Amino acid sequence: MITVIANLKGGSGKSTIAFNLAIWLRAKGKVVVAYDLDPQKTLSDVALVRQEEGIIPELEVRVIEDGIIGQMLKSHAGHVLVDVGAANMAAMKEAIAVADRVIVPVQPSQPDVWATQRFLKIVKDACGDERSPELVAFINRADTHHAVRESDEAEEALAMLGKFRVIPDRLCQRTNFRRTLSEGMSIFELYSNSKSAEEFERLAKSLYPSLIN
Ligand SMILES: Nc1ncnc2c1ncn2[C@@H]1O[C@H](COP(=O)(O)OP(=O)(O)OP(=O)(O)O)[C@@H](O)[C@H]1O
Ligand SMILES: [Mg+2]
Repeated sequence: MITVIANLKGGSGKSTIAFNLAIWLRAKGKVVVAYDLDPQKTLSDVALVRQEEGIIPELEVRVIEDGIIGQMLKSHAGHVLVDVGAANMAAMKEAIAVADRVIVPVQPSQPDVWATQRFLKIVKDACGDERSPELVAFINRADTHHAVRESDEAEEALAMLGKFRVIPDRLCQRTNFRRTLSEGMSIFELYSNSKSAEEFERLAKSLYPSLIN
């Protein structure tokens, strides 16, 4: 299954989600190949930290040139996860064109919702009118205070776009998530039994319902 984690907006959590999902799948014994198509190479860097620290299971992260992305992504039997951002639009479109689904983390703000609406045009450019991968959106970096309404409003606005399956399992803005990238460890390895790990577990199970045990 080819899952692309993408969004036009920077800093929405694409690499954080890609990394944590990849390790979550590896921890479930699944074969995972991750592709880092972003010139920033965050996913490659975090996998390197993990490798240097000798953390098991290792994560295989590949980097490839534009032009052969589609055929490379389709060449795997297991779970393929792709981290790609607006810094490489050609790669983003190539990956989306062969994706089974696209996961879009969205920060709870109006500009992020607008950018997500524009992202739909990218998907259409990539796939044409014939087909569309499943489009899944969720709120990342939600405010932890329940009285703050931005996340509810952003979620409603995403649903109104009419194209996304909006997953209600949000990740809140929590320092723990920041540490996962610097430590090369997933949220559930670093902070098992924390609220952040629980939030991530709920999200991952919504994304991979067949893997719930
Ligand atoms: N739920 C969260 N709570 C706190 N910090 C977060 C959360 N999600 C992501 N971050 C932090 O926000 C920053 C941006 O996240 P990340 O690098 O995953 O986003 P991105 O979409 O891949 O960004 P880019 O567009 O630059 O590739 C990182 O420092 C990351 O640790
Ligand atoms: Mg990134």
